[in-house]
Amino acid sequence: MGEKLLEMRHVTKRFGKLIANRNVDLDLERGEVHALLGENGAGKTTLMNCLYGIYAPEEGEILLNGEPLKLSGPKDAIAHNIGMVHQHFMLVPPLTVLQNIVLGQECKITPMDLSKARTKVEDLCERYHLQLDLDEKVADLSVGAQQRVELIKALYRGADILILDEPTAVLTPPEVEGLFDILHQFVAQGKSIIIISHKLWEVKRISDRVTVLRSGEAVSTVFTKDVEQEDLAAMMVGKRVTLEYDKAPVTSQKDILELKDVSAKSGQNASSLKNVSLHIREGEVLGVAGVDGNGQLELSEVIMGLRPIQSGSVRYRGEDITQVSTRRRIESGFAHIPEERMTQGLVMNFTLSENMILNCYDKPPFTVHHLFDSKKMKANGEKLVEDYDVRPRTPEALARSLSGGNQQKVIIAREFSQDPQLVVAVQPTRGLDIGASDFVHQKLLGQKAKGAGVLLISADLDEVLAVSDRVIVINEGEIMGEFVPGEIDYAEIGLMMGGTRRTVKKEGELA
Ligand SMILES: Nc1ncnc2c1ncn2[C@@H]1O[C@H](COP(=O)(O)OP(=O)(O)OP(=O)(O)O)[C@@H](O)[C@H]1O
Ligand SMILES: [Mg+2]
Repeated sequence: MGEKLLEMRHVTKRFGKLIANRNVDLDLERGEVHALLGENGAGKTTLMNCLYGIYAPEEGEILLNGEPLKLSGPKDAIAHNIGMVHQHFMLVPPLTVLQNIVLGQECKITPMDLSKARTKVEDLCERYHLQLDLDEKVADLSVGAQQRVELIKALYRGADILILDEPTAVLTPPEVEGLFDILHQFVAQGKSIIIISHKLWEVKRISDRVTVLRSGEAVSTVFTKDVEQEDLAAMMVGKRVTLEYDKAPVTSQKDILELKDVSAKSGQNASSLKNVSLHIREGEVLGVAGVDGNGQLELSEVIMGLRPIQSGSVRYRGEDITQVSTRRRIESGFAHIPEERMTQGLVMNFTLSENMILNCYDKPPFTVHHLFDSKKMKANGEKLVEDYDVRPRTPEALARSLSGGNQQKVIIAREFSQDPQLVVAVQPTRGLDIGASDFVHQKLLGQKAKGAGVLLISADLDEVLAVSDRVIVINEGEIMGEFVPGEIDYAEIGLMMGGTRRTVKKEGELA
């Protein structure tokens, strides 16, 4: 370290009136991991897109080894050995892993090129201990594996500077460890990394320095070893935030939802559900803890009526709804915050106003006597962007143009504006910064306070513990046990997440 490899100086990038990056300075040394931290919408992705040649900043310059760097597109960046793994993967699903890696590199690919490429990719995989089947279709891969493809693709192109935009948001804890190993090997060769993450412990663990962006400006750059996680959080939001909430005790004895011995087949790379029984009371948040891919998604889908069950039953307020359609469930008060906000939560090419009524556009007040009232839709959009602090406050903006955190706020605004009785929230704060996560938690607790039942599925254990009244732990599609936050320690929870059944059963609990 010590040698300056790259400098961004006074970079300003505007989108119309909005200034996404304002006069930003950032430098990167050889062999350094530099973390970029900031709230949703702070301008992190935009700044990195400038460095990767996707956007041309209006002002400022980029220097590589002291020489000005002119980038008219990612091709130029790649030619200067800058690689980027995007926040949202940019792979072509029907093509194989190898084809995706080679894609864009050669204009015409002969079988000979492909076999050379294969050897090179195999070498890379071996060097970095990456496991990939080069002939598998990308569509069939788990997100973790897709990310490995993106990584290999950047390495294949000879990246010396690797930009990673929230690489761990979609990874399971062991996959994160795997990624960190690769990154360590990468910098050990004198290469450099810029990594965007919202997870402070990751930043603390992996980076040498941190630059914090706030509202488009770089507010500070510090040596990671000199700061604590709390300091980083404070720098990001300008105030201290801790994950602690006052929760009203659950007083009602009435179950809103009850699952009895539910079994269901799984989706890809996940566990099927085996004899799951659970119940959620009025005004209760039931947390589901577990490592991603252990049946959580399946559980949420079964409850929403999106996945058929093989055996068992689902009851809502005492009534058997096992065979009831998703639409009817939504009409009777179910709200769903799905895991995939871009494909399941929003229509990206619709405006915010349109997205905010996807679940109720055909009902009063929006549709009366078969007539759709666009004024009502607009008024609703305007009110909700205000109430849910969606930035920018422009209901006519397309969902596509929003940062991840603000997209999530749009989904929550829509779902909660219908006064739900049961909220099924799947990874509701994934990719969100602390401020936005806190906002989402407050909104979930607001629904609880109104008497709704909430199912909170999250791979973030701290979140589950902070928000839930009661927690169940799921492993390979089975419930390993149940506890009240504070009752047992992390080690015991960790054991359950790893597949050990809790032996101490509370009175009255189902065996
Ligand atoms: N293509 C675009 N057109 C218009 N506005 C945009 C565009 N891309 C980003 N913005 C806006 O620029 C600002 C910065 O967005 P950016 O995506 O860089 O934030 P971010 O820090 O990466 O946030 P997140 O943590 O949510 O990913 C936001 O206000 C966003 O709405
Ligand atoms: Mg981003």
